[in-house]
Amino acid sequence: MSEDEEKGYEIAPWRLRWRGLDLHELHRTESTFALSNGHIGMRGTFEEGEPRGLPGTYLNGFYERRPLPYAEAGYGYPEDGQTVVNVTDGSIIRLLVDDEPLDMRYGTALFHERTLDFRAGTLRRVTEWESPTGRRVRITSERLVSFTSRALVAIRYEVEPLDGEVELVVQSDLLANEPIESATKDPRVAAALDDPLVADAASASDMRATLAHHTRSSGLRMAAAMDHQVEPLEAAQCRIQAEGDLARLTIAVDLPADGKLRLTKYVAYGWSAQRSSPALQAQVDAALAQAVETGWDTLAHRQREFLDHFWSVADVEIDGDTELQQAIRFALFHVIQAGARGETRAIPAKGLTGPGYDGHAFWDTEMFVLPLLTYTLPDAARDALMWRYRTLDKARARARQLGQAGAMFPWRSINGDECSGYWPAGTAAFHVNADVANATARYLAATDDEQFAEECGIELLVETARLWISLGHHDAHGEFRIDGVTGPDEYSAITDNNVYTNLMAQQNLIEAARYCERYPAVARYLDVTEEEAARWRAAAEHMRIPYDEALGVHPQSDGFTHHAEWDFAGTPAENYPLLLHYPYFDLYRKQLVKQADLVLAMYVRGDAFSYEQKAANFAYYEALTVRDSSLSACVQAVMAAEVGHMELAYDYLAEAALTDLHDLHDNVRNGLHIASLAGAWMACVAGFGGMRDCGDRVEFAPRLPPRLTRISFNLRLRGREVRVDIGKEEATYHLRSGAPMRLVHHGTDFKLGAAPERMPIPDLPPISPVRQPPGRAPIARSEL
Ligand code: BGC
Repeated sequence: MSEDEEKGYEIAPWRLRWRGLDLHELHRTESTFALSNGHIGMRGTFEEGEPRGLPGTYLNGFYERRPLPYAEAGYGYPEDGQTVVNVTDGSIIRLLVDDEPLDMRYGTALFHERTLDFRAGTLRRVTEWESPTGRRVRITSERLVSFTSRALVAIRYEVEPLDGEVELVVQSDLLANEPIESATKDPRVAAALDDPLVADAASASDMRATLAHHTRSSGLRMAAAMDHQVEPLEAAQCRIQAEGDLARLTIAVDLPADGKLRLTKYVAYGWSAQRSSPALQAQVDAALAQAVETGWDTLAHRQREFLDHFWSVADVEIDGDTELQQAIRFALFHVIQAGARGETRAIPAKGLTGPGYDGHAFWDTEMFVLPLLTYTLPDAARDALMWRYRTLDKARARARQLGQAGAMFPWRSINGDECSGYWPAGTAAFHVNADVANATARYLAATDDEQFAEECGIELLVETARLWISLGHHDAHGEFRIDGVTGPDEYSAITDNNVYTNLMAQQNLIEAARYCERYPAVARYLDVTEEEAARWRAAAEHMRIPYDEALGVHPQSDGFTHHAEWDFAGTPAENYPLLLHYPYFDLYRKQLVKQADLVLAMYVRGDAFSYEQKAANFAYYEALTVRDSSLSACVQAVMAAEVGHMELAYDYLAEAALTDLHDLHDNVRNGLHIASLAGAWMACVAGFGGMRDCGDRVEFAPRLPPRLTRISFNLRLRGREVRVDIGKEEATYHLRSGAPMRLVHHGTDFKLGAAPERMPIPDLPPISPVRQPPGRAPIARSEL
């Protein structure tokens, strides 16, 4: 690589390309170049296995159980944790060039680039390498994790000599129990697992090999198998072996100067808690037979077709900022990778791109990821809600264990059991239950999916509503209070009447009552009586929403505005995130906000606040919010846009979209921040588009930030496809398919039919400046 060639991500609208070899960046690019279909995830490691940052192949729902130790145990603490397992790695293809192993730490990388192609859905690599003894070869590889055959990974790997004939040996591996080094005190990093897989079976014949394993403690079983096509086959000597944790196909070939070796590798994965190891081995064998029959070209073609469809309904176009355009598509691509084929399994906070947060799913799914999926790929949203539905029995059991009615979903989990051992920022974040209800109601309103309503949705609404009734109470003044909870802001804990939680619970109760009225047979089946629904309505009606009259703002929870202020001026920049540098007790008792909480309430329950309250609350919380969570910037973007801070909204959109590409939280090595990536979509659609789905109507209030000249997006709404084009002066609405519908534009109701509707964008209302804590303002994009 010549010195002056630019390194880093190249800006281009439809791909992410990294030019040059920078070994220190590997752990980051392995996350950004990860491929996944929501079922299988594979980090962007080099085929040759080394050098590497953090290798990782993950299967959705495949975890190891480990004890959660407590210094002082208490009733109801979860006893076990779960950690996602780095399973059998099928990406490895080692190469020896005239006996010299290709290892980019040695020799010279004459040319090296990797490209994540958002439309092809593949990761491509071109490397020209000179061995320490001076032999030159070109490696071209392309891999995909199939959206259409969800058990499959395919890799096409080619080697060409660049300076005359050469002797090559290729070793294509399946490798289990790769050792991973991990030494950190950061609680957001996965617990280290040593040798999590126990070998059950290994077999090999022809070009195909299978390894089967199970986990020691959780008892999950898996099988991985690989098959190959080699061209030219006649010239190659092949040998295959499999034992324990390793299966290997070895290919020796002498290539002439103008020759090329092409290896196509298919890898299939199967895993289960129920099925036997022989059944899983048979399953991956069948998947491979199908893959070989289908072939690389067809798999690649189907991958593109799947994505063509996705982009036609989900693309967001941005004119005026090419880096942001790329970042938005990168974001959409990774969200669809996380959510496309999860199929009744969870969507983890990191997707399947890394082991961060132990591979757990949080409320991130319902409040950040599902809005995007609901309005673009609703079936994927339904499947994610199905995961919650399938874990409802566990959630009921957890509620019983804690003496509550209804269902109590876990704060963090892989299989539906609570895995948070820290009450104040774990189970006490009861809002996750209302978040599940909110996502359910949103999905039902957006799709009119009656079958899901009857079979699953109403039950989710009812069981979560029941929780609120048992968790809260009417006080002597008749107000319904929900005390002792943690809201989204994890720098306050166990507070009374968190506004976000109470407003979300209120909506949960109202929706449960409404759907029970609409579907009386389902209500009867769920034993909902008139009296019970009346209790829900009464609690909703009398829900306590604290307000500080003196300051003219909503306290985030009772008493919040009376707390001491955090000493921002005395907090050095390197002490962020604060959770790694200050004791929680001190964070908890100060006016300090980790992430949007009251501000999120104003977005999702905008109907509960006047415009003046929104502007005043936004300014107040802006000065307290440090954004130590990546879930904050996108929400601040939405509310900044609503109250008229367009430039600030734009900076927050950029922060959400670039969180991983710029590694703003310095932890992208552990996986991508899927909620923030989905939040970039939210910032465009709900922020600059002003989109609010109010159940009975859909409203827009589009307005651009100064630097952009256009934003366009598409939505699937109530069986239609609607396109919104936002310009400087006007917005245009198009009905791309489906029956005419009524929409609202900046408060004006209109009917959208076959002809596009152009609507003027009103002038901005006057606004007063806002400020952030010193040093915590977002990067001003206009100054870049
Ligand atoms: C945030 C949570 C979030 C979790 C996983 C934490 O830092 O505070 O709100 O659910 O990360 O993304």
